[in-house]
Amino acid sequence: MAPALDGALAAKSGPTVSHPLDPLTAEEVVRAGDVVRRHFGPGADLMFETIELAEPDKAVVRAHVAGAPIARTARFAVYRRGATGVWTGRVDLADGTVAGVAFLPDARPMISPEEFLRIEAAAKAHPDFQAAIARRGIARMDRVCVDPWTAGNFGVPGEENRRVAYTFVWLRLGEFDNHYAHPVEGLNVAVDVDTFAVLRVDDHVSAGRMPAVPVPMAPGEYDHALLARFREPLKPLDVVQPEGPSFTVAGNHLRWDNWDLRVGFSGREGLILHQVAYTIDGRRRPILYRASMAEMVVPYGTPEGVHYRKNVFDSGEYGFGKLANSLALGCDCLGHIHYVDAVVNDLAGAARTIPKAICIHEEDAGLAWKHFDFRSNRTETRRLRRLVVSSITTVGNYEYCCYWYLYQDGTIEFEVKATGIINTAACIPGAPQPFGTEVAPGVVGHIHQHVFCARLDMEVDGPANSVVECDTVALPMGPDNPMGNAFRVVETVLATERAARRRVDFAKMRSWKIVNPGARNAVGKPTAYRLEAGSAIQPYLDPEGPSGRRAGFIYNHLWVTPFAGDERYPAGEFMNHSTGDDGLPAWTARDRPVENADIVLWHSFGLHHLPRTEDYPVQPRVTCGFKLMPAGFFDRNPLIDLPPETNRASRAAGDAPSCCG
Ligand code: CO
Repeated sequence: MAPALDGALAAKSGPTVSHPLDPLTAEEVVRAGDVVRRHFGPGADLMFETIELAEPDKAVVRAHVAGAPIARTARFAVYRRGATGVWTGRVDLADGTVAGVAFLPDARPMISPEEFLRIEAAAKAHPDFQAAIARRGIARMDRVCVDPWTAGNFGVPGEENRRVAYTFVWLRLGEFDNHYAHPVEGLNVAVDVDTFAVLRVDDHVSAGRMPAVPVPMAPGEYDHALLARFREPLKPLDVVQPEGPSFTVAGNHLRWDNWDLRVGFSGREGLILHQVAYTIDGRRRPILYRASMAEMVVPYGTPEGVHYRKNVFDSGEYGFGKLANSLALGCDCLGHIHYVDAVVNDLAGAARTIPKAICIHEEDAGLAWKHFDFRSNRTETRRLRRLVVSSITTVGNYEYCCYWYLYQDGTIEFEVKATGIINTAACIPGAPQPFGTEVAPGVVGHIHQHVFCARLDMEVDGPANSVVECDTVALPMGPDNPMGNAFRVVETVLATERAARRRVDFAKMRSWKIVNPGARNAVGKPTAYRLEAGSAIQPYLDPEGPSGRRAGFIYNHLWVTPFAGDERYPAGEFMNHSTGDDGLPAWTARDRPVENADIVLWHSFGLHHLPRTEDYPVQPRVTCGFKLMPAGFFDRNPLIDLPPETNRASRAAGDAPSCCG
């Protein structure tokens, strides 16, 4: 059983640490920053990319008992402004010692939120940029918006061995105007993010590399202060929980129905789920040791101009957690909400708290199961609920809303709702757009994808798991299949890393099971969960191209590795300007055994985005994700014991209020 909870909803997770997997508190971040600064000596130029919890070994975590002392260690990545390379290491937060310091001369840190507006200011202060803006007839520099895109690794002369942003430009017509409606085409600035020196102003129009394209000036507003009219609002639809929600929170430990788990958060990944387990028949059964969305990349598909440089790893190059929103009650979150604040580090090595970064609530999930017996005229119906743990990140023009759902039937689902503003470029109105859609006159949205990679550290009924590929095949007609109806599942254990580099196959209705060979269900089969890869997508980046090389994880939908604490991110630890030498393709080339072992699943999935006029000026959310479903994990429908209930607040049209009070 899970450790006892105090049952109180009290509570903000305060500054106290009650478990080895609790994220660093603000005090711990500050202490780690102080220790690291002392270690590297005086100087204001020490910059902190990352201070985060160094998760203890699994054995330590599993052996932890409530109330026992907890050894706390922070992991750091720091650099000196203006010098290349990154130092990594660990801080023992109890004795203030630094250990395991390594210098990575080729690593370049991610771009921090504090650097966004400094990059813009550097570009706007440069006389060549000012001249290019003036040539376009734009009078007010204060209305020019310069977005700090990561620069990739394209071998551009002058950018070598630097940390560079390659910017794109838009024009804001008023204080709340949607500047993405007004792209300024053919003007880009390469800015050194360490020194804020402008390396190059590229005016592709004046250089004769492309024709002049007018800045589209029609408004594309979404701010309510600027929208002229609203439709009649619908009547209120309130989520009322008169007795409060059914989950309990103690620190970062969450318990709801038969589930319990720990909620974590990091500046790089955002939401993390730890130690997800389901208790049935008095037995707490582990499923996931740790789950997160560990990387993502957005390749754009046009070779026109310099748009090929748009190939951004929003997680590894900026930090999904660092860019998390503070959520708004009644807007982002509906119902009875428990919020958790997130703590990340800033560039100076101090703590930055993002209030209400994590939303926890429960939702009705429709029907759970039903049967009507036409002989006895009896009906049994049960409704389903899910627990939702969510967080929303804004990366420049775009919003990624991440939802983990735990259903009462044992299903775990991850969903990304993508919304925000599509990335825009200017075009000649009406001109053919082979690589995009003209979403408004003179505004084009280019074809692109959003490819995510989930890191799923599995422990189905314990640490030793295997992955089994399940292909459904039809038998040829013949003596064994005289009527031509026969089809069956062929199961193959994926025994090594190379064998476990897999892609979906619709012709075989392929799926994958994570089994525990040492645990049996009521019919003698290994207990298992199944990965439902419902959003697998086909990549179009050439794997040998400068962007494809850095995004190796997108070329397989499934990868399996033996657990290694330093294999955390599928495209590598340091993504900014990466070469592609680190990450899943390199790790799995070793072909380590992954059968009946402590394994990590990596699932690549995403959105294939052909922009629509309906995506403009702001995109209605589109979704992608995956499910982990019990498949032989339980001995029967785990919802058979749901009590028969009727929701008394529901009423039929024309009924008098039926509530019995
Ligand atoms: Co998109």
